[in-house]
Amino acid sequence: MRVNLTVNGEPRQADDVWAGESLLYVLRERLGLPGSKNACEQGECGSCSVYLDGVPVCACLVAAGQAEGREVRTVEGLADGDRLDPVQQSFVDAGAVQCGFCTPGLVVAAHDLLARNGAPSDEEIREALAGNLCRCTGYETILDAVRLAATRQE
Ligand code: FES
Ligand code: FES
Repeated sequence: MRVNLTVNGEPRQADDVWAGESLLYVLRERLGLPGSKNACEQGECGSCSVYLDGVPVCACLVAAGQAEGREVRTVEGLADGDRLDPVQQSFVDAGAVQCGFCTPGLVVAAHDLLARNGAPSDEEIREALAGNLCRCTGYETILDAVRLAATRQE
C-alpha cells in the first residue's frame, strides 16, 4: 500500500508498505530518516520516539498505515537547519551522549516535557523520561542535559 504523511513539515509518500510494517521502519528504511533508533521494537526502550500529531509515541508500535494523513516530527525535525534545538545542544554540552542509541528518543521526550513544563523538578524530569532506557550513562548527565535545556528555552 501507499502511505501519505507529513514528516518534519514536508509531505512524504512511502510505496509498497506492507500491512505489518511499522512507522519506524518507514521513517528509517523508506524515507531516509535514521535518527529514530530501533533498539527493542517492542515499545520498551523509547529509542524510537517521535511526535505523531504532536504527541510522543513509540514509532515501533505504530503501524505505518495508522500514520496515513498524519503529521510526524522526528528528532531530525527538531533542529532548525544546521542550528540544533536547545534540547539537542544541551545533550551535547552536558556530555549526555555516549553510544547515542537512546539519545534521539530522550531528546524527543525531554523536548515534549519542556514544551509542557519549562521549569520541571528533578522528579518531573525522571517521570517524563521513565519510558526511555539508557544502558551507558547512568542517567545523571541526561538529567544535567534536561536541566540545562530548561535554562535555554526560547
Ligand atoms: S525500539 Fe521502539 S520502544 Fe524500543
Ligand atoms: S548513551 Fe548508550 S544507551 Fe544511552
